Amino acid sequence: MASTLEFTLNGRSVRVADVSPNTTLLEYLRSTGLTGSKEGCAEGDCGACSVAIIERDANGKPTYRAVNSCLMPVCLVAGREVVSVEGVGCSANMHPVQRTMTEGYGSQCGYCTPGFICSMFEGYYRDDLHTPDDLDEQLAGNLCRCTGYRPIRDAAAEAFQCGVRNAECGVKDGFSERLKNSDTRLGAAAYENAGEKFFRPTSLADLLRLRKENPDARLIAGATELGLDITKRYKKFPTLISTEAVVELKEIKATASEWHVGSAVTLTEIEDKLGEEFPALGDMLRVFGSRQIRNRATMGGNLVTASPIGDSAPVLLVLDAKVVLACLNEVGRVTPCAPSAGQVESGAHGVTRPT
Ligand code: FES
Ligand code: FES
Repeated sequence: MASTLEFTLNGRSVRVADVSPNTTLLEYLRSTGLTGSKEGCAEGDCGACSVAIIERDANGKPTYRAVNSCLMPVCLVAGREVVSVEGVGCSANMHPVQRTMTEGYGSQCGYCTPGFICSMFEGYYRDDLHTPDDLDEQLAGNLCRCTGYRPIRDAAAEAFQCGVRNAECGVKDGFSERLKNSDTRLGAAAYENAGEKFFRPTSLADLLRLRKENPDARLIAGATELGLDITKRYKKFPTLISTEAVVELKEIKATASEWHVGSAVTLTEIEDKLGEEFPALGDMLRVFGSRQIRNRATMGGNLVTASPIGDSAPVLLVLDAKVVLACLNEVGRVTPCAPSAGQVESGAHGVTRPT
C-alpha cells in the first residue's frame, strides 16, 4: 500500500503525501497555493471550483473535461492529468478563452471567472459545439452573481469560433499536443494515510475481491454524490474503492438487440454515444445536472445511491432497461447474481435497441 500518490498538475508531476483520501481536490489545490479555483457552494452547483481533467470521449479520443473539484476526492486524480485555471494561461501568455473574456469585459469579479474559464477551456477543445444551445449547455454549470452572462457568453462564442478556425488551419497549441500524447488509461492504485485507505482496481474480479475483504468500504465512481457527504455532512470514509478503472464497468457495448452500459460510464459518454438512438435519454441527460456533473457522474452511481434526485430511473424504466448484477462465487469467480436486500455490488445496464 503506497503512502503517496502522483498526478500531473498543469504539466508538472505532483506527489501527494500525508493527505487524507477524503480531502477534496479543491481543498488540496488551495492548500498548495493554487487559489484561483474557488469554493462557492461546495455542492456542485456554482462551478467556481471547476478545473479540467483529461478524459476519453465516447469514441475513446482524449479530451479535456471540466469537473467540480469541490466534489472530487484528491485520490481520484491519481495517475490523471489536471489543468487548473493557473495552468490555462497567465497575463503574459493568455489562452484564447482568457483573451476573449478580458477583451469582451466578461469578468467582473474573481469568484466565478476561474470556473467559467475552465468550462470554456473544455469547450474550446470540443469539436461538437455547433449551436447557441450547445454553447449555453457548456456554460450551464457556472453561476455568476454579477449577471455578466451576456459578455461571458459572447466571449465563449468568440473563443470557440477561434478554436474551430485554429483546428481547421492546423494551428497547434501546447494543450492540443498534450491531448494527442496523453494516455487516459487509469492504472491500479492503493493509497493509505493515517489508516484511511483508497483502492482503484482495474478488473471486476479485483473490485469484488476488495469489496469482500473490506465489507465496510464505500464504492466510489464520479463522487458527485459521495463528495456531498464529505463537504456537507463532514463524513470521513475509512476505505474508498473506486470503480472507474474497472474495464468491464467502463464499456458501452452493442449487440444486435441491446446496448450494455457499464455502471462506471459517465453520463457525458452515455449522452454522446446513445443520445441520438434514444432521444428520450438524450433529452433527459441534457438537463441532468450541469456539464461538470455529467462529466463525472455515472448511471450506476445514480441508481445505487437511491437519491431522491436520481433522475435516471424513470427514463430507464420507460426504456425497459435491465440491471445486471455480479458477485464472486464460492471459488472466487465473477458470476451474475441476485441482490440481497440493500446490497448491490456492481452492474451494467441493458437497454433494448429500438426496432
Ligand atoms: Fe460550487 Fe464546487 S464550489 S460547484
Ligand atoms: Fe461572476 Fe461576479 S463576475 S460572480
